[in-house]
Amino acid sequence: MSGSEDRRLILALDVYERERALEIAECTADYLWAVKVNWPLIIGSGLEIITELKQVTGLPIIADLKLADIPNTNRLIASKVFEAGADYIIAHGFVGSDSVDAVMGLGKTIIVVEMSHPGAKEFIQPATDKLIELANELEPFGVIAPATRPERVSYIRSKLKPGIKILTPGVGAQGGRAGDVLKAGADYIIVGRSIYASENPRKSARMLYAETLGV
Ligand code: C5P
Repeated sequence: MSGSEDRRLILALDVYERERALEIAECTADYLWAVKVNWPLIIGSGLEIITELKQVTGLPIIADLKLADIPNTNRLIASKVFEAGADYIIAHGFVGSDSVDAVMGLGKTIIVVEMSHPGAKEFIQPATDKLIELANELEPFGVIAPATRPERVSYIRSKLKPGIKILTPGVGAQGGRAGDVLKAGADYIIVGRSIYASENPRKSARMLYAETLGV
């Protein structure tokens, strides 16, 4: 098995309960590059879950808060979340460069340039070119792009400055396939329900990890 830094699978740990979250993270950690926490887990278990997940897994933690506020509020939220041990925070770009910059001033940031659900076509997709420009200007750690639309991932890759990572949710429950999206240019796949809601999360994580090898 590779060292965690070579892995390309991120677990989206969207459960409420602390015990369940820690258990799933611990049993899948061998196959993950990072663990992503979103509002369900933070609301259900408190911000301390970030610190605990880091201790249990030893992996980077991505806080998927999709921050979309004025710079001061983004800064107030992000400082507490980085303080809790988050390694990366996901922020929306559509609020403008000053709001994203406020987060980037505090730690590693990932900007949403397109989303994976059907409704993303209504407002976000028409703005993707501008959001890519924003990312190229600010040079964050990475951007979020949809695993459900590999052709959009290829497009985003072709416009994005080299070195900016592409992280893609939407594999599994939302219909995206790991191999397709990695071939399209994604650096990492983000998978939630197909792992945490499966009968055997460790086995599901191992299978997805195997799919990422050699792409
Ligand atoms: O369960 P599933 O694999 O669909 O989980 C996907 C995760 O990625 C969820 O936490 C969801 O909020 C997040 N996400 C997404 N599409 C985006 C951005 C984030 O599905 N564009």
